[in-house]
Amino acid sequence: MKKTKVLQITDLPEQTTKALTDKFDVVRLPKSAAELDQLIDSQGEAIEAIAGMGSGKVDAELLSRLPNLKMISTYTAGQEGIDVAAAEAKGIAVANTSHILAQEVADTTLWLLLTVAKNALNADKYVREGKWQSGNFPLARSIASMKIGILGLGHIGQAVAQRLDIMGAETGYFGRGRKSQFDYRYFSDLKEMATWCDVLVVACPGGAETYRIVNEEVIAAVGPQGYIVNIARGSVIDEEAMVEALKSGGLGGAGLDVFADEPNVPQALIDSDRVALLPHIGSATLETRRRMGEAMITALEKHFGAK
Ligand code: 8YV
Repeated sequence: MKKTKVLQITDLPEQTTKALTDKFDVVRLPKSAAELDQLIDSQGEAIEAIAGMGSGKVDAELLSRLPNLKMISTYTAGQEGIDVAAAEAKGIAVANTSHILAQEVADTTLWLLLTVAKNALNADKYVREGKWQSGNFPLARSIASMKIGILGLGHIGQAVAQRLDIMGAETGYFGRGRKSQFDYRYFSDLKEMATWCDVLVVACPGGAETYRIVNEEVIAAVGPQGYIVNIARGSVIDEEAMVEALKSGGLGGAGLDVFADEPNVPQALIDSDRVALLPHIGSATLETRRRMGEAMITALEKHFGAK
């Protein structure tokens, strides 16, 4: 039986590339416009699916050149490179892996939250530098008595909220609309939630719609006793404004897995003792990354029928 032709738009982990290639007729998206023209002329009509990271660029123009495209399946949760609205308007199915990686990313979020609230990196340093002998470490903050505002109650936000329930924190959320299945306090205004909460957890998609929605005003509303944890995309926060607020004491601290210009991290963040920094490892475990690859392929198989 003829295999479904899939356009692979980005690099993928080796085992995922291999599994995809075993099951589908995979062509790689070329780098130059001339090569793309050539590919579309020769194979454009045969391409029925797109696979890869959601950072790969699939704009309305590319969509218009693939008349038989039926599905886009991404390895990632994030799909900021893809014009999802244009794809859906054409009836193209779009799948991601946010349901697969949510628990893992929520674990990473909790590490960031606990690390900043308990001042754990400085506490670790305190022991290593032999300061404990000269007195006890300053008291930290208790998660159980905190109000946590989650920006984006999708799969990841929900998995974070479940963990916070166990810890006894009070949880609120801001998003496109109220989700009536949850009892958490809903805010229709982000600044209002930032004023209410002790910690703002950023867990929404990146892309144009959320670009720097955590702006100077929102950061100021989180305030000198508050923290920001970002597990989503660096683009969601005005990073310069956050750096300024951390320097001036206008923001208490931050736990960051993602940055505006990865892998470059502003020196001021590296020098700051108010932050915990991770190299975008929210979902980065052997198990979860394997499952993400499998889910991307399973979604294609379900759509086209395993061949
Ligand atoms: C990684 C992510 O960036 O799924 C996402 O949207 O941010 C992460 O899981 C991705 O897997 C690329 O390594």
